[in-house]
Amino acid sequence: MNLLDRINARQFSVAVVGLGYVGLPLAVEFARANIKTYGIDVDPRKVESLRAGKNYIRDISDDLVSDVIERGLFEATNDFSVVAQSDVIYICVPTPFTANKEPDISYIIQAAEETAKHLRGDQCIILKSTTFPNTTEGYVQPLLEQGGRKVGEDFHLAFSPERIDPGNKVWHTANTPIVVGGVTPLCTKIAAAANRVIIAKVVEVSSPKVAEMEKLLENIFRSVNIALVNELAQLCDRMGGINMWEVVEAAATKPFGFMPFFPGPGIGGHCILIDPYYLSWLAREYDFVTNFITLAAEVNESMPFYVQRMVLNQIAHLPVTITDASILIFGVAFKRDVDDLRHSPALRVMELLTQEGAKNISYVDSFVPSLELFGKEMHAVPYSDELVRGADVVVITTDHSDFDYERIVANAKVVIDTRNATKNVAEGREKIYLLGGGE
Ligand SMILES: NC(=O)c1ccc[n+]([C@@H]2O[C@H](COP(=O)([O-])OP(=O)(O)OC[C@H]3O[C@@H](n4cnc5c(N)ncnc54)[C@H](O)[C@@H]3O)[C@@H](O)[C@H]2O)c1
Repeated sequence: MNLLDRINARQFSVAVVGLGYVGLPLAVEFARANIKTYGIDVDPRKVESLRAGKNYIRDISDDLVSDVIERGLFEATNDFSVVAQSDVIYICVPTPFTANKEPDISYIIQAAEETAKHLRGDQCIILKSTTFPNTTEGYVQPLLEQGGRKVGEDFHLAFSPERIDPGNKVWHTANTPIVVGGVTPLCTKIAAAANRVIIAKVVEVSSPKVAEMEKLLENIFRSVNIALVNELAQLCDRMGGINMWEVVEAAATKPFGFMPFFPGPGIGGHCILIDPYYLSWLAREYDFVTNFITLAAEVNESMPFYVQRMVLNQIAHLPVTITDASILIFGVAFKRDVDDLRHSPALRVMELLTQEGAKNISYVDSFVPSLELFGKEMHAVPYSDELVRGADVVVITTDHSDFDYERIVANAKVVIDTRNATKNVAEGREKIYLLGGGE
């Protein structure tokens, strides 16, 4: 049987390279569909944890992970030789940027090099890491073709970007439509067939480049629209008397042609903040300036500074200096109900306040038990009314759903709310300073 027939007959096996927020849910989804799945990761802690039946991604159930491991359907390893036993190999490794905000595709290169060493023929490699157009054909394909193999003949290659939204209770791996573009029409067909085993709707496009660009468009779209509301939120605060959150909610009642985006303390995570830079970097090679990307980044990256100023303004009205002021941060993860700290705007706010001289910052976040700020470890403090009462300023940087906002406001002296988390709090509104609230 050829690869396409094996996939359609569900007689194939999968390897997922990179078992993080993207790779582990994908691997588990294949395993629960009774497809033998290998998970490969270079992080020994992740491999050990999974081998012991322990899950570390909040969005997947612990029982599901231990079940597929016990039934032998999922096996974690740091050994790439399992690639030889796999028919479809997904690459889900990080794509960060460098200190100068240039793409770092070194993880993709390493993963492709290791995969190439173990290819046996008639396999399909699907890159899922978000990256700039031409990564699949320009960088991954030559590595896989080393030794005389030919794409479309000896192996198949496609790009199929990930759309997982950690913390989203409605849309997950299986029910979120996904795009796929192969190097040849057969590559597309095979990669789409593999995706269809676990994903309800798979959209085929004409090339990996279209799929790579499509993913960047998704994230740039978000970045630009968030920047727009962030800028207007600052204008509302400058003018006074208009609450930007109310404005967005009112506009969102239009049933067509509008999609709501909300202001906030800045954007974080592994996607919206980073991915636009992948395209602006590539555009430079073509003497092209991606103005929307640059402008959106400028506005969004200024938001933690805006929050810092909101905090300093409040402290200026108190009989304490920034050095002595007790600042209590609620929520440090980059968004609601996730444990992901990567590029979190809350961390940036804490850094900026520390640079301004603040020495007494603490945080509450049940998702993030500890973090590092300027090389020093900090631990989350458990919530108590006394803790809130003792703070000079409370800052809500992430609106986790396990916070009791009524109680926080009732006990706080001053609350800076960057997420409209206190929207439904009726008592004590005079203590709340809402970002974009127009106060
Ligand atoms: N997290 C998201 O919400 C999300 C959504 C859509 C797309 N993406 C994209 O998906 C990709 C992966 O993101 P993530 O959030 O899962 O990252 P992650 O850091 O959570 O996971 C990546 C994993 O890859 C492993 N790894 C690194 N180099 C490796 C190698 N050479 N071989 C094997 N394993 C290796 C790491 O140890 C880690 O476990 C990125 O390109 C990201 O932009 C992420």
